Amino acid sequence: MAKIIGVVSGKGGTGKTVSSLNIALALHEFGEDVIVVDADTTASTMGIHLGLYMFPNNLQDVLNQNIEINRAIYMHQTGLKFIPSSIDLELLDADVSKMRLALNKLDATIIVDSPAGLDKGAISILDACDEVIIITNPEMPTVANGAKISRMARDMKKNVFGVIITRVKNNGWELTPEDIETMCETSVIGIVPEDMNVKKSIFEKVPVVSNVPYSPASIEYKRVAARLLGKTYEPPKHLALKKFLRLI
Ligand SMILES: Nc1ncnc2c1ncn2[C@@H]1O[C@H](COP(=O)(O)OP(=O)(O)OP(=O)(O)O)[C@@H](O)[C@H]1O
Ligand SMILES: [Mg+2]
Repeated sequence: MAKIIGVVSGKGGTGKTVSSLNIALALHEFGEDVIVVDADTTASTMGIHLGLYMFPNNLQDVLNQNIEINRAIYMHQTGLKFIPSSIDLELLDADVSKMRLALNKLDATIIVDSPAGLDKGAISILDACDEVIIITNPEMPTVANGAKISRMARDMKKNVFGVIITRVKNNGWELTPEDIETMCETSVIGIVPEDMNVKKSIFEKVPVVSNVPYSPASIEYKRVAARLLGKTYEPPKHLALKKFLRLI
């Protein structure tokens, strides 16, 4: 049976899609059978991150037209398996209530990239998941909404795996991990720094974990993925020197 992990946030633009793709890719690199699903059915961007836009079948076809879910799985050049959503504006009405049923047919770890917000659509996607990872930036408005979705997930009896703080700049104007743990009532499982390699990788359409494997963001996403497996990840020793000598 599938293990379904939702990547959620109360607010838009926090880094859900970047995190979903990179956690999934790190899990894949660790040898896990993993599929990342674009459940942002109204504002899909996963295909854009991967440089792939046109698909014979997508999540909407699975949910609205009972297309077999295995027929909507594609593979990126990195080996990452994914189920895309339509970017077609006419297909906004996916029946997300069927999502759990469809995903449960997959015998893999499923990472679900979710839409932003706390409305009905976002909640029904949360309902399709067993576990939840909350994505926030270290700013009060984002954390306040992260706290709401954390509470909602627990009320829905979901296992909240923890919160990942993304785009951390350490500029002195940010909430601390301790503040965020207190507000979201869960542990911080990753602190992903602001990293220009993420932007480079979006431009180059290859998730950063594969595109720049030892960038600060990649290392942190690998740590989170290892943690999901109950393991630890440490980057190679003397990384700065090896990078300087162009050995990695
Ligand atoms: N660690 C990072 N370093 C630098 N930029 C980042 C990082 N993480 C995310 N970004 C930037 O933030 C933008 C938003 O990220 P992303 O699309 O993953 O957010 P989202 O939560 O999925 O947004 P939406 O709610 O609209 O779906 C990215 O396009 C990228 O430019
Ligand atoms: Mg997104």
